[in-house]
Amino acid sequence: MSTSRATVLLDSSVATAKPEKVGLEEYYSEAGPDYAAWSREFNMHFGFYRWGMNPFDREPMLEQMNIEVLERLRIDPERESRILDLGCGLGATLRSLARRLPLASLTGVTRVPWQVEQARERNAATPHGDRIQIAQLDYEKTRLPCACFDAAYAIESACYAHGADKTAFLEEANRLLRPGGRLVIVDGFLRSSNNMHPMQRRIFNKLCECWVIESWGELDRVEAQLRLRGFRDIRVEECQFRVAPSVFHIPWVTLEFLMRDVLFGKRKMTRARWSNVLAPVLLPLVSMPLGPMVYCVVSATKE
Ligand SMILES: C[S@@+](CC[C@H](N)C(=O)[O-])C[C@H]1O[C@@H](n2cnc3c(N)ncnc32)[C@H](O)[C@@H]1O
Repeated sequence: MSTSRATVLLDSSVATAKPEKVGLEEYYSEAGPDYAAWSREFNMHFGFYRWGMNPFDREPMLEQMNIEVLERLRIDPERESRILDLGCGLGATLRSLARRLPLASLTGVTRVPWQVEQARERNAATPHGDRIQIAQLDYEKTRLPCACFDAAYAIESACYAHGADKTAFLEEANRLLRPGGRLVIVDGFLRSSNNMHPMQRRIFNKLCECWVIESWGELDRVEAQLRLRGFRDIRVEECQFRVAPSVFHIPWVTLEFLMRDVLFGKRKMTRARWSNVLAPVLLPLVSMPLGPMVYCVVSATKE
């Protein structure tokens, strides 16, 4: 092949090449600081609304989600306990639990080195932070000792695990829990019979790309996996209406972010940061009642 033809071929392949996919570490390192616009405590999840709360005040609803998880973990605050956060972000939930459980030792794992650093700094600056360990580990293969936790939870992080049935994630959680230990998963799930309109399918695919999610959990399949692994007392609570008040905050948080951080911000807007702006806007379009996504708290007890 002549050099000029090879150059033309090379040039055209560069011109048509799709941009590389953003990976989880890159996404959370670049877009991570932007979560400050959502939560001053870096609660990187939706809120849980209870009657009597002010739906316009976001942070208490985000904190209420931590309290809801804690209640379902069924930890006795007067006894020593070991608790694991599978996908801990900057450790906001861990710090909330450490405040409420004076005898607990807590461990958080995340794959993102930036989050490990930030979480450790924040823990060091809080009174109960010395009972929290943060490790850079993959929650599907942590290499932590078997049966060493009384309870484990995953808030909006299990969606990143492989496969629609989340087998590897559940297998590892099962291995790490002692018999009688509790598992709580809070996340968006797909109803298994998810007939999406082609337009909605495109929005859904874009949402997955933005949040670097390979495959959302399918509710029936996750439940079946829990049963298969011998979990009992399995409870699935759909809480679409509980999280809705915090979902309604998305438009103005986005607008405020665009004004402050995009228009006048000093940090360069990268693809990962734009994705983090777009994903929450797309989410309601594929969630109940418009689409097949449901937000659930799934809890179970290890046999
Ligand atoms: C949306 S954030 C939620 C963080 C935290 N649970 C919260 O509610 O504030 C998702 C988290 O899952 C973590 N994650 C995703 N895949 C993971 C994996 N394979 N192993 C460990 N952590 C993972 C990310 O690093 C990130 O910290």
